Amino acid sequence: MAYYYEDASRTFSEYLLVPNLTRTDCVPSNVNLKTPLVKFKRGEKSPLQLNIPFVSAIMQSVSNDSLAIALARCGGLSFIYCSQSIEEEVEMIKKVKRFKAGFVVSDANLTPEHTLKDVIQLKKKTGHSTIAITEDGTSSTRLMGLVTTRDYRISRDVLDKKVSEFMTPLSKLIVGQEGISLSEANDIIWEHKLNNLPIIDKNQNLLYFVFRKDYDDHKENPYELLDSEKRFVVGAGINTRDYEERVPELVKAGADILCVDSSDGFSEWQGRTISYIKNKYQGSVKVGGGNVVDREGFMYLVNSGADFVKIGIGGGSICITREQKGIGRGQATAVIEVAKARDDYYKETGIYVPICSDGGIVHDYHIVLALAMGADFVMMGRYFARFDESPTKKVKLGNNYVKEYWGEGSNRARNWERYDLGEGDKLHFEEGVDSYVPYAGRLQDNLEGTLSKIKSTMCSCGAISIEELQRTARMSLVSSTSIIEGGAHDVILKENNY
Ligand code: IMP
Repeated sequence: MAYYYEDASRTFSEYLLVPNLTRTDCVPSNVNLKTPLVKFKRGEKSPLQLNIPFVSAIMQSVSNDSLAIALARCGGLSFIYCSQSIEEEVEMIKKVKRFKAGFVVSDANLTPEHTLKDVIQLKKKTGHSTIAITEDGTSSTRLMGLVTTRDYRISRDVLDKKVSEFMTPLSKLIVGQEGISLSEANDIIWEHKLNNLPIIDKNQNLLYFVFRKDYDDHKENPYELLDSEKRFVVGAGINTRDYEERVPELVKAGADILCVDSSDGFSEWQGRTISYIKNKYQGSVKVGGGNVVDREGFMYLVNSGADFVKIGIGGGSICITREQKGIGRGQATAVIEVAKARDDYYKETGIYVPICSDGGIVHDYHIVLALAMGADFVMMGRYFARFDESPTKKVKLGNNYVKEYWGEGSNRARNWERYDLGEGDKLHFEEGVDSYVPYAGRLQDNLEGTLSKIKSTMCSCGAISIEELQRTARMSLVSSTSIIEGGAHDVILKENNY
């Protein structure tokens, strides 16, 4: 007989946190937001941890290399989207792993055989006035020289003048050698009054530039999420179709963790994918699975070998799965049930499998609710899509700036693998929309505001770690009238007064 859940499923907005005693040690500067990313045994530490409990959604409109770098710098992690070719995804992973704060891979390059016309065109296209002249015009071969605006006069020089005739050749350049630290590079820049310093290896291949103007921006960040070689940690999305080809390439490129991207993770396609990876790499490659919304789905993925499990169907801001297919579950209820399953499994086996609440975070306090309900970290799309570092276009709509944000199940993304119905089957309807979100500026500035709210709420709940919050939080369901009471009410609002 069909099964009916007795209770309605709930969303985050239907709950409030009830304060616990705020001890004198409960101050924001004492709050530690470190959290496990992958499973671990009782008494041990998770081999991969996040410094803040945020990961960015596996979406074309959210997680590219620039967002991954910005987020890892602040202590979180991005999963680079997989609805692109294997080569493109690999290239994004490599860019994150190659990136060193303050060390920039040159993206304006020409050869000595190019002309002044090419220089002018490239400057216009990239906006960069420093052009590296390399053996083959790419960013990583032998450095032959440099062209800046000081090397040519548009009014005097003919447009077909060869770069080799006016570039500053390598013999006249001051360069830094591979291995130099950021502060050493800056000392050279200051000493020689340079605007930039090319960094080369022992074979004179160009590695990076360090720019004078960037120094203040790139002072170290205490939360940076780094691997053992001090490179940023980055994740990669995978699908249940081409994993046998995609996974080895991503692993080779340096992806630190994988996650199967699927709207419904309680499927044999996903079980197969995870088991394959766990067997092939003997557990050394970490892979998360999802999305599920109940105990059965969680246990299925855990038994397949998942290192973490993602929760959420139908709650995403761009998601229309519930309208289209009538499947899903209120995000709060799903997190509460899966957290209970995770805790029971931990008690039975001594293995802790972290869980991630994915989608549906609208207010910063929803993040605290998700953590209090048992999530170890949250995945967000809309939140990150608003920032400078996300891959999408910023456009003006009326008087406001907005950024584009579209679902992986929309016609625009065409990520049908995420909605896999089996070999060869293609979906004939959309599960996501194409939309705008308000533009919000730099990731780091916004994150600072969100983190300070989270820490302050945790202090009110008497918790200075996520584990303590999960153990001691008290939450109450709210009636619809008390939701109205929660906003400003019965006053005439002045504009922008909070
Ligand atoms: P948001 O943070 O509320 O914007 O939700 C982001 C999450 O929505 C992602 O991490 C995915 O789990 C989910 N998602 C992404 N694209 C789609 C879609 O097209 N349809 C349904 N869910 C989607």
